[in-house]
Amino acid sequence: MSETSKIYKRKATWQNFVSLSFINFSSEEMDKKRKYRITEVKQAKSVAGDFLQSIQLDKAIDFGLPEIDDRYHIWRVPLLSKSKEAIGEVVIDAVTTFVNEKKTTSKEVLESRLLGRKSINGHKEKRSTNGSSDAPKISSIRNTVGLGDSEELLIEMPAESVDLVFTSPPYYNARPEYADYLSYEEYLLKIKKIIHQCHRVLNEGRFFVMNVSPVLVRRANRNESSKRIAVPFDMHRLFIEEGFEFVDDIHWVKPEGAGWATGRGRRFAADRNPLQYKPVPVTEYILVYRKATDKLIDWHIRKHPHPEVVESSKIEDGYETTNLWKIHPAYHSKHPAVFPMELAEKVIKYYSFKNDVVLDPFAGSGTVGKAAVKTDRRFVLFEQDAEYMNIIKDEIHQWLHNKAEDVNWINTGPADNKTPYFNF
Ligand SMILES: C[S@@+](CC[C@H](N)C(=O)[O-])C[C@H]1O[C@@H](n2cnc3c(N)ncnc32)[C@H](O)[C@@H]1O
Repeated sequence: MSETSKIYKRKATWQNFVSLSFINFSSEEMDKKRKYRITEVKQAKSVAGDFLQSIQLDKAIDFGLPEIDDRYHIWRVPLLSKSKEAIGEVVIDAVTTFVNEKKTTSKEVLESRLLGRKSINGHKEKRSTNGSSDAPKISSIRNTVGLGDSEELLIEMPAESVDLVFTSPPYYNARPEYADYLSYEEYLLKIKKIIHQCHRVLNEGRFFVMNVSPVLVRRANRNESSKRIAVPFDMHRLFIEEGFEFVDDIHWVKPEGAGWATGRGRRFAADRNPLQYKPVPVTEYILVYRKATDKLIDWHIRKHPHPEVVESSKIEDGYETTNLWKIHPAYHSKHPAVFPMELAEKVIKYYSFKNDVVLDPFAGSGTVGKAAVKTDRRFVLFEQDAEYMNIIKDEIHQWLHNKAEDVNWINTGPADNKTPYFNF
């Protein structure tokens, strides 16, 4: 009998006893049916251990025996002081494997119970009136890949659990035959909801970097003119409405001949009439926003719990000094709009520390994940298209080598390790 099924036996109150005996499933089958990905005590302990490490209390706390609460689909991991007194619990979502920080005993309460209202280093950890803490948080999230609508997947994530968002949203196609959205307003509303969730999961004062460009709406017939929709400026409004501050507009310049939009400006080139002038777009925006806070950037650097990580995250010579970044576009045979690795690496290095968690809610082929690994960060990738998810599954072993086994997969299985390992 597995430890999990022993727990089921012990927890069989008359209510769940009745429901369990009517439905003739073993506990393992039941877990599978409910899509639990934490099915064993040791997995629950491992997630709780990562969480305690992230709040720097792993050395001071032991675990009691974790139990599953199948009514709420959560694991409860009891927390004990070294003298074996119960001081709280970590609550974990059995499906997503994320720690539910609202239901978990807070760091402050654990510290005060452990040390007679003093923190481990002798100072009481304070929360300011706006809920912000005295030191940056270290996320307990491990590399995660989720298949599905990122709005829904983000709702499951704990607040303040990622350190950088870098993404490029889906392209808005105005032509009804190709459109995924009924209208441009509907498209913006979807992006707004996702920006809202990203704001919630981002740590205090951290960055959201978005690659976005105006969209060309081709004319339907010769009597109409083509139009451009200024998507980046509408995105700006959404960021401000959702509690971000504008930081920078970087222009990604595609070198001459590389991926330039074709056709635009041909008419003007032939006739040279004023008013018909149309430049060929060779840039895309990299918009940089910061989650609004009263903390200075200096706070993240000075108060980082691991100064050696800050030191090793310093950016080497040869960095971009202006907001014009000349980078060749990238191509992928199975995805139409991938980031160049160089772009993803630069953004990650400039806007996060090593070991941080980088989120891409529109992950596509997963370039942000690959760049995160290459720059010693962790990643969270959400993608709703199963075909694109297959690219991630096919390639993830090349980025992570044997660490691919530790990836937290949501709504999708782990990749088969078909590809040979090789370095970048
Ligand atoms: C511009 S592509 C991103 C490509 C990515 N930067 C890369 O390097 O491969 C946008 C991606 O968002 C995905 N997507 C669109 N809406 C989504 C949603 N609501 N949730 C998750 N993914 C979504 C699309 O399937 C597409 O792969």
